[in-house]
Amino acid sequence: MAELGHEVVGIDVDAAKIALLSEGRAPFYEPGLPEILTSAIASGRLRFSTELADARGAAVHFVAVGTPQRRGENAADLTYVDAAIAALIPHLSDGDLVAGKSTVPVGTAARLSELVAAGSGAILAWNPEFLREGFAVKDTISPDRLVYGVPAGEAGIRAKELLDEVYASALLNDTPVVVTDYATAELVKASANAFLATKISFINAMAEIAEVTGADVTQLADAIGFDARIGRRFLNAGVGFGGGCLPKDIRAFIARAEELGRGESVAFLKEVDGINLRRRDRVVDLVVDSLGGEVYQKRIAVLGLAFKPDSDDVRDSPALDVAVRLHGLGAQVVASDPQAIENSRSLHPQLTFAEDHLAAIEGADVVVIVTEWKQFRELTPELAAAAKGRVLIDGRNCVDAVAWRAAGWTYRGLGRP
Ligand code: UGA
Repeated sequence: MAELGHEVVGIDVDAAKIALLSEGRAPFYEPGLPEILTSAIASGRLRFSTELADARGAAVHFVAVGTPQRRGENAADLTYVDAAIAALIPHLSDGDLVAGKSTVPVGTAARLSELVAAGSGAILAWNPEFLREGFAVKDTISPDRLVYGVPAGEAGIRAKELLDEVYASALLNDTPVVVTDYATAELVKASANAFLATKISFINAMAEIAEVTGADVTQLADAIGFDARIGRRFLNAGVGFGGGCLPKDIRAFIARAEELGRGESVAFLKEVDGINLRRRDRVVDLVVDSLGGEVYQKRIAVLGLAFKPDSDDVRDSPALDVAVRLHGLGAQVVASDPQAIENSRSLHPQLTFAEDHLAAIEGADVVVIVTEWKQFRELTPELAAAAKGRVLIDGRNCVDAVAWRAAGWTYRGLGRP
């Protein structure tokens, strides 16, 4: 927002994060973020604070706190959204706009708008976020669409005007805008992530069929992807989806639909979740199988910990899960990731980590790729020569099977012969 020319204060209850940000240091890895953070602070348009009173005087208040999965349940935990709105209300002025960015169950904005209206003269809008980790800066500066969920009448007109001012530069570039009601805006977000998760699980289901028929799911994806109605993007079969969004968002959607008496409408998302989780079992099974069932004390190089490349995020990461499970079977796991070691170690200190992926490979009986970082896609049999075994399990179907086999390796991908 500061990069777009606005004057911004970023507020969080986590004093450590605010201290880091104030020094121009990002509290997580995101390509391009440190540069933009430094320039925004230098411009004088961006500062950080732990005091909600510093929100006073702002025309627009974005609420972008997390909505994680509730412990032991599918539903989203709205504690942080509720707390942020309640704490913000005393600092709002007449005509201010509160713009919710958090991913929330449908019906939340209507409930919160009553609280905002009762406690202030401010207006609530719901403005869902579609950025992808790894492309967060680009997706924020140049979004592919904007969705404004606004109330009816004058308040809605005022909300749209303010959001148009916020996003003026994107609008100049003809970014499509959908102006709608709260429920539609909330559902757009839930259904977009549900669709993406379904697309990935669809191709992973095809991978399961390919595995029992000798077909190749990567060629299948290429061939169906040429149909513009289907499209090739998000059809990469592998160890499946993870992260802080897709898994918890489909579960929260299932929980909300059940509350609304329409559980059957999204019951297929349970299958989407199930297919996704089975792919982790499959990678573990391939490793065990390649060792003739004897995993105990075998050395296994796990390449990748983050849920996707260009991120240090290990929330619900299939890669970290595979590493932990192999360790649990008694294997000597040495895991490597360009950015996610620190986060993985704090969750699973029992694992052994190597900063250098070639060091992880040294002496390994089996090499497993579970996150398709560039360095791992570019791994060759020559670079991996220090491995003891000659087995590569490619959990992301991201290296050249022919070249590895030609060099004498046993190559096993997912959904590939
Ligand atoms: C996802 C959505 O793509 C964003 O649009 C959304 O804004 C965001 O969630 C959110 O709700 O905040 P993100 O979690 O950053 O973004 O990651 P994705 O790029 O969607 O990837 C999710 C997972 O799917 C990763 O584990 C990735 O490895 C996996 N994936 C992706 C596949 O297994 N196959 C594919 O073909 C694509």
